[in-house]
Amino acid sequence: MPISNDGIFVVLTIQECYYFLTGNFLYMSLRQFIASRKFLRPFQFIKDTATLGWNEVASIFGMHDDVFYNPGHIKIEKPVTAILIGVGHRGSIYADYAIKNPGELTIVAVADINPERRKKAASLYKLSQDCCFKDWKEVFSKEKFADAVIIATPDQLHTQPCLAALDACYDILLEKPIATTEAECRLILQKAIETNRIVGVCHVLRYSPYFRELKEVIDAGLIGDIISVQHMEPIEHIHMSHSYVRGKWRNSKNAAPIILAKSSHDTDIIRWLVNSPVHDVHCFGNLRWFTNRNAPEGSTERCTDGCKVEGTCPYSALQIYYRDRKRLYVFDLPADESRWDEKIIEQLKTTDYGRCVYRMDNDQPDHLTVNMLFENGVTAAFSMEAHVSYEGRRTRIMGSKGDIMGDMETFIMTDFQTRKQTSWSLVTDTHGGGDHRLMKDWVQAVYQQNKDLLSSSIEVSVESHLMAFGAERSRQNRTIEDIRLSVQ
Ligand SMILES: NC(=O)c1ccc[n+]([C@@H]2O[C@H](COP(=O)([O-])OP(=O)(O)OC[C@H]3O[C@@H](n4cnc5c(N)ncnc54)[C@H](O)[C@@H]3O)[C@@H](O)[C@H]2O)c1
Repeated sequence: MPISNDGIFVVLTIQECYYFLTGNFLYMSLRQFIASRKFLRPFQFIKDTATLGWNEVASIFGMHDDVFYNPGHIKIEKPVTAILIGVGHRGSIYADYAIKNPGELTIVAVADINPERRKKAASLYKLSQDCCFKDWKEVFSKEKFADAVIIATPDQLHTQPCLAALDACYDILLEKPIATTEAECRLILQKAIETNRIVGVCHVLRYSPYFRELKEVIDAGLIGDIISVQHMEPIEHIHMSHSYVRGKWRNSKNAAPIILAKSSHDTDIIRWLVNSPVHDVHCFGNLRWFTNRNAPEGSTERCTDGCKVEGTCPYSALQIYYRDRKRLYVFDLPADESRWDEKIIEQLKTTDYGRCVYRMDNDQPDHLTVNMLFENGVTAAFSMEAHVSYEGRRTRIMGSKGDIMGDMETFIMTDFQTRKQTSWSLVTDTHGGGDHRLMKDWVQAVYQQNKDLLSSSIEVSVESHLMAFGAERSRQNRTIEDIRLSVQ
């Protein structure tokens, strides 16, 4: 691809046009990715590496020249077939992989209790009525009719469909959390081992180029031995109010505790980077702000009830959903946008999303800290923060020969001996670009019947959940929890 002197992209090859039009960057080699940096801004090397491309950096550090390269992938001759259970927000993202990659994956049936979602899915995935089931149980009342199932139902509804799918010999892609209790997580693991099925867990951050890169730098020994880790998960405050104050995960009795529901990604990433089983965890945290006692004077049950502070409240549902049109995916709005005003107001008057954030039945902490001691002596401090204006995990890794500071778009490595700094920058989509990269590895794992192609198999993912359950016990009981990961 020719690039003019000022770096502005001039001509795209046919192949690049294809990537651009399909929005599918998975197949780009890193060289192609970097070559188009003005057009996609994927990598920017700053400081002393500013003029180098990935190939040079990779050759200096002895790494593969394509960060997305997976030597285990092969050409798929016949698409893997999957049944989507739970056609909601997450399920639709995974099934979208089939639309973008019809040669690799076909959705052959769906199950959802919501008729609107079934109807939409029937048209999207070109399914006949008898392939659109009204409940997950209906799927397993039939003989096995696909290679795999994708389970993206609500948190409390993972265990039963997962066990039924294992009984019926399906391979599985399972949304996290694996289950909402430790006993159920262990049960699923045990059954997956017994039936020898592939169960991939949607710890999508492991597949994001940013974290893959970070892992590769650490594993290559560029900062020596890891000594300690600091990791922060900022849940931007409106996101917090949407999901964990008003939304489906607001109460740990109906969903999973937030350390599991939101931060099992983080316990998983920390465990993965440290590359050692955890020994002890300890957690402090509580719900400090989103409580009845902080309801402002003049506030009402719903933002639409004539609340006197609606105009100045950062959590006004009218502002977030109606005026700003944010996070509307929870409303199943009609395709005809001219009806949205009326429909959004209707939703705000009838659903939890219109209720005052200070008058909910929420119990999830809005801040917590977890300390971890790993078997190899590494310590890690994790904090989840809801009172922040930004997202994007912040990570600092302290090593014997250097350190790393990162924010999910850029990370900077400093070498203590040479004092040189090397920086990687990468801008991608939601979840750091991990969603469809997970799908690519999972489809390959099912196609080749090789669970080693997955970085987040149930066998490794369960550890992060045990860490989260331990942290929650510690928070509740003010204890230090000894985590036993002997799960065979
Ligand atoms: N990996 C991640 O980063 C990530 C991010 C967000 C959510 N999640 C998890 O993904 C899962 C789904 O979350 P979501 O946001 O897509 O929720 P959602 O509500 O949008 O989707 C869940 C779907 O399951 C359907 N459903 C409910 N009962 C059913 C039944 N008996 N049979 C079949 N379908 C049924 C619902 O109608 C809904 O369409 C949750 O467990 C959530 O915690 C994971």
